[in-house]
Amino acid sequence: MELRAQLHMHTTESKGARIEMECNVSPKKAIDILKKKNIRVAAITDHDNTRAYPKVKDYAEKRGIILINGIEATTKEGELIGLNLEPGIEEELKKGIDLLEARDIILSHGGEILIPHPFDMRGRGVGERIKDIKGIVEVFNPGNVLGFEDKFARIVAEKLGLPMVASSDAHWPEMIDRGVTVVDSEPDINSVFDSIKKGKVRFENCKYLSWSEIRNWSLMRVNESYFQVKERIKNGWEVDCNYMKIANQRIIRLIERAILEFSIKKPTSKVLDFLAFVSHFFTSLYGWHRRRDYANFISLL
Ligand SMILES: [Fe+2]
Repeated sequence: MELRAQLHMHTTESKGARIEMECNVSPKKAIDILKKKNIRVAAITDHDNTRAYPKVKDYAEKRGIILINGIEATTKEGELIGLNLEPGIEEELKKGIDLLEARDIILSHGGEILIPHPFDMRGRGVGERIKDIKGIVEVFNPGNVLGFEDKFARIVAEKLGLPMVASSDAHWPEMIDRGVTVVDSEPDINSVFDSIKKGKVRFENCKYLSWSEIRNWSLMRVNESYFQVKERIKNGWEVDCNYMKIANQRIIRLIERAILEFSIKKPTSKVLDFLAFVSHFFTSLYGWHRRRDYANFISLL
């Protein structure tokens, strides 16, 4: 049978490294949306924690949703998702762990590895280290708006013979049914992974985020965390996640700070739109720079 699956999504239990509020979908709301969108298999993959799963396991089951416990681990060399692991696995999969150590922990617990946005332009993915991981590769992520990131992920997955999925990396309600993987499988977890590994999949609703979606979401985050952002501006806006190399560039940091100052004062200002455009421009430039490095790596595979 055909099952619609979403294997990479977040809930309010995910916390951002700089602005804490990074998802406005509670675990219960996530299940309601999955039900409404006819997504029968789903993994909650919050950053570095598994708090959501026990809260909604029964709620999901009653609604006929096969819920998988997952985690998006922040390793030293990029993010890595572990699926079908027991709650509390973050005790072992600590934030900032070595990539290979994270891989070994996931495998030793009988979990499955999903490699999210491997060629993300901001460097949040594992990039070239993909060849050491060998898991299921995310070949569509709506946030990869330059397009080359997913194209490269697909080429590499094909070259290395790795299974592929599309996913949403959803941080707000409307994102949940972007990048759905339709799996031809029986309605149980093992069968779903078996089918994914055999390539019995097709992808639906692979639509990238629009400029206005990104803008509105960023604004909402800043305004929801008004006091936190104000405090951070006052004390200097230091970047505390070193894998976001883009944000460590001085010019981007200055623009980012200006955007934050404007957005908490005047969220509808034209100046803010202009600054956001400039930031997007520099980010894209950086992205094209990374593209060259990744293209080099792929040609040598
Ligand atoms: Fe994610």
